[in-house]
Amino acid sequence: MGGEPRRPLLTRLQLLREMGLSPLWRLRRQSADVAQPLVGGRAAGPEAAPPSSGEAVVAAAPAAVPVAVGERNAEIAGMGWEELRQSAATCRACNLCQGRRQAVLGVGDLKADWLFIGEGPGAEEDARGEPFVGPAGKLLDAMLAAIDLQRGRDVYIANAVKCRPPGNRTPEPSEIAACAPFLRRQIVLLQPRLIVLLGRAAAHAVLGEVGSLANMRGRSFAYNSPTGGENIPVVVSYHPAYLLRTLHDKARAWEDLCRARALMRAAKATAAGLERAAGPDAGPTP
Ligand code: URA
Repeated sequence: MGGEPRRPLLTRLQLLREMGLSPLWRLRRQSADVAQPLVGGRAAGPEAAPPSSGEAVVAAAPAAVPVAVGERNAEIAGMGWEELRQSAATCRACNLCQGRRQAVLGVGDLKADWLFIGEGPGAEEDARGEPFVGPAGKLLDAMLAAIDLQRGRDVYIANAVKCRPPGNRTPEPSEIAACAPFLRRQIVLLQPRLIVLLGRAAAHAVLGEVGSLANMRGRSFAYNSPTGGENIPVVVSYHPAYLLRTLHDKARAWEDLCRARALMRAAKATAAGLERAAGPDAGPTP
């Protein structure tokens, strides 16, 4: 009984090839024009310890980042608004540049307390150079109005990617990563009191989270930047385009907005308290 074990007719690799499943997973070298994901936010709810003061943001990037990416990131990290606009306008860091009419950096009050981040420009945004001007934008404007906000007044609106994905498809993780330095710089320049992430792509871009939106909604996150903005509260909600298709989730989006408004009030109260505690004479020490 027994004898020699029979050798398989095909090796595993040959079998996978036959099934059209090869080549096998391979670690791809990160190309010089693909940047790392946007620096992460972190869960700040009961499930995670709060970040310590002054703590740097944890990047979800691989340890070895090609020099060209690091150089590009450093360059963008030092830009002001105009340079940022020009740099985005001529950016060729991913293939989205091939289909764009123009890059859409963002719009609004450069001293805004509120930062709303969507996914990426659609056809109308690509044509007009402004985020959220199509049907989803009309709904966003209505959502803003519901909490007494208005585009351009204490509100800045940006997207995870600045160039229109073809056919309005969801941006690829590599495209989100390539655009991340722009968004990161926008957040540092704005230093908003609160960030609202509209949809999964925005949550992926800012928090590095790729879980379901249902999982992220209602949780507490904070965004930390080593160069400006510590513990900025982050609220994750539905994308307005999704809400246009899924009316029954509008009530949940309303809950998110109410939560965001409460967080904003709390952030303002804390800031006012700190100012009072510092006293009228408090200023930078010589
Ligand atoms: N959807 C987005 O995510 N952003 C826009 O600017 C327009 C539609």
